[in-house]
Amino acid sequence: SMLVVKTINELRSELNKIDDSSDVGLVPTMGALHQGHMSLLEKALSENKKVVVSIFVNPTQFNNTEDLEKYPKTLDNDVDLISSISKNIIVFAPAVAEIYHDKVKTKIYDFAGLDKVMEGEFRDNHFNGVGTIVETLFSLVKPKRAYFGEKDFQQLRIIQKLVEIQKIPVEIIGCEIVRENHGLAMSSRNERLSKTIRQNAAFIYETLKIAKYKFGMESVLKVKDWVAKQFDNSADFKLEYFEITDVETLTPAKNKNIDIKYRAFIAVYVEGVRLIDNIAIN
Ligand code: PAJ
Repeated sequence: SMLVVKTINELRSELNKIDDSSDVGLVPTMGALHQGHMSLLEKALSENKKVVVSIFVNPTQFNNTEDLEKYPKTLDNDVDLISSISKNIIVFAPAVAEIYHDKVKTKIYDFAGLDKVMEGEFRDNHFNGVGTIVETLFSLVKPKRAYFGEKDFQQLRIIQKLVEIQKIPVEIIGCEIVRENHGLAMSSRNERLSKTIRQNAAFIYETLKIAKYKFGMESVLKVKDWVAKQFDNSADFKLEYFEITDVETLTPAKNKNIDIKYRAFIAVYVEGVRLIDNIAIN
């Protein structure tokens, strides 16, 4: 049967049982698992002797208490889903007190500006919270490799910066975005959408794809204006931001430079749910 450990002590003793403890892959998650998470897990299983999946809804990365309270918790389903693909996985699902003890404290990092734009701008302190939990998980599991989705591309860049500044010996592996059939990026938050809106939300990725095409011909400003207009015309979907940035520094592009790799990022509100997506555009 599947091994689910809830305490740090149990986790340590399970890790100690592994013959080659230098070959562990870690997949950090907040649960409510879907095919996006499972793709990370499959990749981790193919590259490591043992895999640890953490399931922890991390309070320090939520700047909105309602979002935290409404975050779906489906541990039994998650464990069933994980055990259906392999038994060679340790599920680490600690309580908040196990990680943060009696005071929930967020560490402050210098992410060299990567946390000042987009998700960092609209979600105050979010990336310090992500850094705090991911650094803690790295120190507990000591993985050789850790897997993060490009769905949260800015988070992936932050984690790469985190291991650089904290000198953590782990290889960070980025994994492609998994989408629903009609194109909407998979997310635990999609479950909160009505059926019709979930179908219509394909519009977000459609917009990104057209923006990518337009970026080949038009100025950054024109592409941004066009995207904003698509949302002005929509009653249900509200645009929070659309940015085209340098993939390395995440600074918003003003003029195109053919030597730079760009990515387009979007955040949208629909039915009170906040959705994000991104696309490589050159
Ligand atoms: P969570 O949102 O549960 O996502 C866990 C991992 O799955 C992240 O690396 C995320 O990028 C990846 N993921 C989610 N949806 C995906 C999709 N459609 N395609 C590919 N990958 C996808 O991200 C977090 O949790 C937290 O911030 C965490 C890193 C666990 C720290 O608390």
